[in-house]
Amino acid sequence: MTQTTRPNPLRDPMDRRIPRIAGPCALVMFGVTGDLATKKLMPAIYDLANRGLLPPGFALVGFARRDWATEDFAEVVHNAVKANARTPFREEVWKQLSEGIRFVAGELDDDAAFDRLKQTIQELDEARGTGGNHAFYLSIPPGLFPAVVGQLRSHGMSETTTSSWSRVVIEKPFGHDLRSAQELNEVVSTAFPSSSVFRIDHYLGKETVQNLLALRFANQMFEPVWNNNYVDHVQITMAEDIGIGGRAGYFDGIGAARDVIQNHLLQLLALTAMEEPTSFEARQLRAEKQKVLAAARPPERLDLYTARGRYAAAWAGGEKVGGYLDEPRIPPDSTTETYAAIRVDIDNRRWAGVPFYLRTGKRMPRRVTEIALGFKQAPHLPFAKTDTAELGYNALVLRIQPDEGVTLRFGAKVPGTQMEIREVNMDFAYGGSFTESSPEAYERLILDVLLGDPPLFPQHEEVELSWQILDPILDYWASLGTPPEDYEAGTWGPASADEMLARDGFAWRRP
Ligand code: BG6
Repeated sequence: MTQTTRPNPLRDPMDRRIPRIAGPCALVMFGVTGDLATKKLMPAIYDLANRGLLPPGFALVGFARRDWATEDFAEVVHNAVKANARTPFREEVWKQLSEGIRFVAGELDDDAAFDRLKQTIQELDEARGTGGNHAFYLSIPPGLFPAVVGQLRSHGMSETTTSSWSRVVIEKPFGHDLRSAQELNEVVSTAFPSSSVFRIDHYLGKETVQNLLALRFANQMFEPVWNNNYVDHVQITMAEDIGIGGRAGYFDGIGAARDVIQNHLLQLLALTAMEEPTSFEARQLRAEKQKVLAAARPPERLDLYTARGRYAAAWAGGEKVGGYLDEPRIPPDSTTETYAAIRVDIDNRRWAGVPFYLRTGKRMPRRVTEIALGFKQAPHLPFAKTDTAELGYNALVLRIQPDEGVTLRFGAKVPGTQMEIREVNMDFAYGGSFTESSPEAYERLILDVLLGDPPLFPQHEEVELSWQILDPILDYWASLGTPPEDYEAGTWGPASADEMLARDGFAWRRP
C-alpha cells in the first residue's frame, strides 16, 4: 500500500490553534437602518468581539441619512446586539466595542458629509490606532453604489497604500441580469481594484457549506462515486417557511430566481460539481468554480425544465396565511415568482447526463437547505421483486440547515425470516459530534474581510457566469407575460415543478 505524500489541502491542524485575529481597522457601514445590518451585521460584529477576534481598537462607523448623534447610533447597535447576537451579552465586551462607535449623518450626494466621514476615520486612526485600514460595507441597494463609490474615490478613501488598506464589501443582488452586473462591476472598479472588492454570498460563510469541501476533498471514499458513473441526479433545495415579510420593496420585481438561485444555489452547485482545487487559496478555488460554472448551461426546453410559482392564501400550520398578492405593497398585477425551480446540465466528462435540479421557495412546509446526490440503482438486484419494493434510491444528503449534518440513505435488511429490504438513514449531526457551536456566516465573512482573506468571496467572473445561466430563463419567463402558477402556502410548490422532475423519472425530495 502506498501512503499518500500529498500535503493535506485543508489547513494544517497546527494553524487552527492560532486564532485568526483581525489587525487594527475600522468598518464603515452604509445602510445601518436596514434589516440586514440590525439582524445580522451588528450582531456578528459583537459576536466577533466577544470571541476575542477583533482588535481592541476596532472601530465601527455608521453613515446614514438620519438626524442621529453617535449615542443614537450606539443605541441602535446595542439593541441589535441584545436582540440578535449569538453569544451571551457581556458588559465589558460591549463597553470596549462601543468606545469605537461613531456616526456620521448625511446624504449620499453630500460632499460635506463625506468630508466629515473622512475626518472621523482619520481621527479614529489616531485615537484607536486603526492606521488607515478601512472596510466600507455597502449594505444598500445597488442603485446607490455609484454615489457611494464615487464619493469614496473623490474623497481619497478608496486607496490602498503600502502601509494601509481600503476594501469595499458589497451585498447581492449583484445586478439583475448580466448587463447590469457588468455595469455595476465597472462602477465599483473605478474606485477599487478587484483584490479590494469583497462580494458577500453569505451561504459561503456557512460552516456546512465549507464542510462540503471537507467531505469531498479530505476523504477518499466519496470521490470515486462523485460522477456520472454513479450519480444519476442532484437536487439542491433552499426552502423557507416564511413569506416575504416586510421586504416587498426589495423582493417584488426581483423574485426567487434572482434572489437565491443566481447566487446561493449556483454557488452550491459550483462547490458540489467542481474539480478539486490544487489549494484553497482564492485563485485556485475560484478558478475551479469558474470552470464548472462555464460548463453549466440552462435547459434547452425552458418550457419543460423550469418552473415558477407564487404562494396563494391557505391554511398553513393551523393559521390562515395570506397569499403573495395580499402582502403589503405588492401591486395586484405583479408577476414576481416566490418559487423557482430549474434544471441545469453540466457539459463535462464528470457530469454529462446528470441533471442538477435547483429549487427555492418561500412559504414552503419547512425551512431547509440541502444538497442531495441521488445514486443509480444497483445494476442487478438478486432478490425477489417484492423484497425490494420499499427500496428507493441511495442518496447522500448534505444538510446545510437547520438540522446541520450529512445523511447517507441506503437499503438494509428488515429483521425477520424474510429477505425484505427497506431504506434506512445513517446520520452525522453537527450537534452530536462537535461541542463547538457553529458561528454565523456573517461572523466568518466579516472577519475574512478584515483579514483580507478572499477565498469565500465570489469574484465578478462567477457572478457573470451565473447570470449567463439564469438570463435566458428570466427572459423566457418575462416573455410569457403571465403570472407564475399558484401554490398553496405551506406546500412544496407548483405542480409544474413536480412534473418537471417526473418527466425525467425523478421526484423532489420532501425533506
Ligand atoms: C437571502 C435572501 O440572501 O437569504 C432572502 O435575500 C433569504 O430572501 C435569505 O430569506 C435566507 O438566508 P438563510 O441564511 O436564512 O438561509
